[in-house]
Amino acid sequence: MRDLFDRIIENKGPLGKWASQAEGYFVFPKLEGQISNRMKFNGKEVITWSINDYLGLANHPEVIKADAEAAAEHGAAYPMGARMMSGHTDLHEQLQNELAAFVNKQSAYLLNFGYQGIMSAIDALVTKDDIIVYDVDSHACIIDGVRLHMGKRFTYQHNDMESLEKNLERATKMAEQTGGGILVISEGVFGMRGEQGRLKEIVALKEKFKFRLLVDDAHGFGTLGATGAGAGEEQGVQDGIDVYFATFAKSMASIGAFLAGDKEVIDYLKYNLRSQMFAKSLPMIFVKGALKRLDMLRTMPELKQKLWDNVNALQNGLKERGFDIGNTQSCVTPVYLNGSIPEAMALVKDLRENYGIFCSIVVYPVIPKGLILLRMIPTATHTMEDIQATLDAFSAIRSRLENGTYKRLSQAVAMAMGE
Ligand SMILES: Cc1ncc(COP(=O)(O)O)c(C=O)c1O
Repeated sequence: MRDLFDRIIENKGPLGKWASQAEGYFVFPKLEGQISNRMKFNGKEVITWSINDYLGLANHPEVIKADAEAAAEHGAAYPMGARMMSGHTDLHEQLQNELAAFVNKQSAYLLNFGYQGIMSAIDALVTKDDIIVYDVDSHACIIDGVRLHMGKRFTYQHNDMESLEKNLERATKMAEQTGGGILVISEGVFGMRGEQGRLKEIVALKEKFKFRLLVDDAHGFGTLGATGAGAGEEQGVQDGIDVYFATFAKSMASIGAFLAGDKEVIDYLKYNLRSQMFAKSLPMIFVKGALKRLDMLRTMPELKQKLWDNVNALQNGLKERGFDIGNTQSCVTPVYLNGSIPEAMALVKDLRENYGIFCSIVVYPVIPKGLILLRMIPTATHTMEDIQATLDAFSAIRSRLENGTYKRLSQAVAMAMGE
């Protein structure tokens, strides 16, 4: 028998194994200064394209003021205890009511964190007789939620409606045997590539199959739809979403999340969401902070307009220069390039050190081998000058990638990695 920690020390995991080469730079980088379009990395100013502060609320003076006032009045703790026991307040209820109205649902329920919250929602919505059908490219929180499920689950190919139909046929046969129901899960916006979930087509399948739909709209909330109610509103099918989920971690620039749907479903979840029932209530700083942010989402449409002006300028600029930005239908802006992991590392270093551009890099196994994905998140705080500088930098790094500069630069890295 071996010691439990032997394996952990030998094998640090798919990401942990890169720690000695990557930590502090490619992973766990320290961005300093106020959250905005320009921050500091290793003491130098960079244009930041990797922060999900879509509407620029993180550092908005009104938001900072509301957060500070709430902190001064309540400290970080109030209210103490779980919502069910002693952590419930009028303002938690008010926020829920306002969120429900904002996304056009009867009711909403607050969650401390999106990740645990959606896991619990999946866990609470199904029993072992029910079947889950979900997009294969789902966020880790959905995958972990599905892992809690004791019954059958099927994945469908990413955004592939034929594959979804096939799996719904299988799920329907199975549900007829078990006597259970079917839960379909999609994201409103897939956060890596920026494609919207094909909610309109999924909802249309309700004519043919009997299922309920849960949508994780982390990136759609506040950014899509005429009022910012998200991908369902954008595609005209908000009513077809049975359980709507969004986090405060992106457009709302905070912590917390919520679920919304019909009153009887939300009432059920309120009494069955284990990660909320047995966890301390969301502190008042975040509740009051979310009320303020939501008010700004409602009353300051110019923030979303500014965001989209920037998104369009960046995405059109990239397309005009012949970059492959895939099939994004949201603010998430991916740029696909061909190259190895060491080349990607050399390229990102060049972008950061010589052009002052800070963006996230995604490589295999998240995307196929040989592809490099540079992922950019435009926000309302970016300027046309930031966009122009970024487009020029991207043109420069593409020619270096193509003329082999990064291959040469990365040879030392590749050798160190044993590639
Ligand atoms: C698609 C998606 N779902 C859920 C979450 C988790 O939300 P939270 O950060 O509130 O835990 C995230 C990340 O924030 C996300 O991108």
